[in-house]
Amino acid sequence: MKLEGGKKDDAPRTAEGISESVLSSSMRKHIPSSLVKRLAKQELDRGRSLREAEKQVKGRLHQVVLSFEPGPKALSSLSSRLDAAGHDRALLKEAARAGLALHSSTKERLPYMEELFSFVFGKRGFSSVIDLACGLNPLAFPWMGLSKDAVYDAVDVSDLCGSAVRSFFDGWGIRGSFTQADLAEGLPKGGHDVALLMKALPTLDRIEQGLGYRCVKDVDAGHVAVSFPTASLGGRRKGMESFYGDSFEEFVRASGWTYEKRAFLGELVFLVRK
Ligand SMILES: C[S@@+](CC[C@H](N)C(=O)[O-])C[C@H]1O[C@@H](n2cnc3c(N)ncnc32)[C@H](O)[C@@H]1O
Repeated sequence: MKLEGGKKDDAPRTAEGISESVLSSSMRKHIPSSLVKRLAKQELDRGRSLREAEKQVKGRLHQVVLSFEPGPKALSSLSSRLDAAGHDRALLKEAARAGLALHSSTKERLPYMEELFSFVFGKRGFSSVIDLACGLNPLAFPWMGLSKDAVYDAVDVSDLCGSAVRSFFDGWGIRGSFTQADLAEGLPKGGHDVALLMKALPTLDRIEQGLGYRCVKDVDAGHVAVSFPTASLGGRRKGMESFYGDSFEEFVRASGWTYEKRAFLGELVFLVRK
């Protein structure tokens, strides 16, 4: 009995301890403690020992954040390169393309990104965008075909990506922002014409089952572009298109929304109209 009650009462304090230990590493200190504590609490609630819970949390942080992005060194030299480019569009574009190749999601998208953005934004007259769980995708702004006055707000749990995105926005003169936020804690306030959730749903669902669909439903935007990876990080297709696509189509239909869908080389994209 004591164990049951004790486990519940101790959970917040021990989740706090796990968070402190996990974030003491320079590899992880850019991740908000709210996310680490959430994962730690889930692992402790599953009855794991402190040691085992901490190990699981580190593994899950790798899966949801660290496996996609380059390390702090590469991202800080990207920010410096973007800063050094000042307002020179040619230099900024060159640095942005190099930056896109650093994050696994945008690297995979490079060969078809213009085609993809033309499908999502082309001639739709969107003047405000919110890019949720953005990674380095905002660096693709020069290839998006949006108007130069478009507002582009970006959100990610990783502040490392954020510093490169901020440097790029300053240099290019984009009316936009980067906010470090954990989407499991809630969505940012303020309406936009379109929200992007590119390759984000499988990651968000690893934090909490159903979080991805909740973001699509709750985000304050008339359109939502949602994409799914159709090739794994190793490059092998595994029937991922129908694995993710079929249930998402069902969710969209059940919500009474309409959508267009297009398959690209490594990504299945839905443009949902709510
Ligand atoms: C597969 S990547 C996709 C990046 C980008 N949307 C793209 O397609 O280029 C997943 C992104 O989700 C971010 N992420 C993970 N958990 C998050 C959370 N709880 N809140 C916000 N962003 C999160 C990661 O840092 C990473 O940049």
